[in-house]
Amino acid sequence: MQHLPSPDATPAPRPPLRVGLLGIGVVGSGTARVLVRNRELIAGRAGRTIDLLMVAARNLPRARALVGPDVEVLADAMRVVRHPQIDVVVEAIGGCTVARELVLEAIAHGKHVVTANKALLSEHGCEIFAAAQARGVMVAFEGAVAVSIPIVKALREGLAANRVESVAGIVNGTSNFVLTKMRGRGLSFDKALHEAQRLGYAEADPAFDVDGIDAAHKLVLLASIAFGTPVRLDAVHVEGIRALQAEDHHHAEQLGYRIKLLAVARRHAEGLELRVQPTLLPASTLLAQVDGAMNGVMVHSDAAGVTFYYGAGAGSEQTASAVIADLVDVARLADALPVQRVPALGRQLHVMAAVPALQVDELPTRNYLRLPVDDAAATLPAALRAFSEHDITVLAHRETAGEAPHAGALAFITGEATPLQLRPVLAALEGLPGVRGPVVRLCVQPLS
Ligand code: HSE
Repeated sequence: MQHLPSPDATPAPRPPLRVGLLGIGVVGSGTARVLVRNRELIAGRAGRTIDLLMVAARNLPRARALVGPDVEVLADAMRVVRHPQIDVVVEAIGGCTVARELVLEAIAHGKHVVTANKALLSEHGCEIFAAAQARGVMVAFEGAVAVSIPIVKALREGLAANRVESVAGIVNGTSNFVLTKMRGRGLSFDKALHEAQRLGYAEADPAFDVDGIDAAHKLVLLASIAFGTPVRLDAVHVEGIRALQAEDHHHAEQLGYRIKLLAVARRHAEGLELRVQPTLLPASTLLAQVDGAMNGVMVHSDAAGVTFYYGAGAGSEQTASAVIADLVDVARLADALPVQRVPALGRQLHVMAAVPALQVDELPTRNYLRLPVDDAAATLPAALRAFSEHDITVLAHRETAGEAPHAGALAFITGEATPLQLRPVLAALEGLPGVRGPVVRLCVQPLS
């Protein structure tokens, strides 16, 4: 840095940005805490102070204890979103019903909105973004996806020159924590989930985490930004992690893979592939090494090539980091013309175009198949014959005798085949003598 501006060039001070916070749970309390702790530093970056003026909370004494005497605490969130002294509303309530009403009311009253509520935006984003555009206010949501990773900004701004080909990510900290603890420490599913809840990672309803719904919410937002298309939640193929068994982790490991709940959005000539499902990733890939409550996102785009983003996927101050980054954007740009701000989804709404969603049943992938058998060595030749008769390539296989009698297993990695193409061979395998149950199938993604 060679020339610092002279003191005369110091801009006139701008009035503080006045924040109304709705909810003081995990996200709200972290936001309040970091705003106070890093007040000067944040003001230096935002060009003005960011003041928490009001909090709406159900538990008033708890809220007062958290925010201290200088912040007004109210039971009625509607009063906050309509209050003339509030410039920006941080929605940290969660859910879709009350949160939707409050966000729309805040917009109608000319308030900017910051939210980490991915369920709300994936269900009602079109309505909310349109209302915000019509009213000329910002809706910012960095905290809605992979909290500590600025992936919304990266896709929307850092990669603005690129045609994105695919986005693949581990975007649910809770399920990644559960999978990591089950694989590494042999914890049961219930124990690992309980631990994730205790650490404040899980959604109010943890079924959202382990059934892949939360990851689908996030994928919808990432795909909208990456591909410039309004994406509906029902366009995403979603499978969770409940049905995974310890032995699948074991077989995957032996075959050189790890199982992750992977969210994928990929552009094809005919439309978009959108899926969230437990997936085998080669153990050496960056995504396979994202463990615990961490998240990782890999983007393939035409000019930048492969870029990879890693960071905490859940947590109070980790989410606050993203929420406050959005508040800094609002502080800088609240007075700018709407056209001078970065659009919420990275493009002006009128250039967003619908793209058809493809059926994953018709898309080829490699596959992991596990077959419970009485005697692995005895069944292997017939199983390999069945693959060959159905023109399915076997890239690798593994047999385990099992500790008890009749508790063997055969595990296979197939070449590319669609779920529809696999159906006849699965039926043939299940009909072989000595096969004890249905074939378990998981998708394999050889992502580099
Ligand atoms: N329940 C979410 C997760 C929190 O585990 O990733 C952050 O969105």
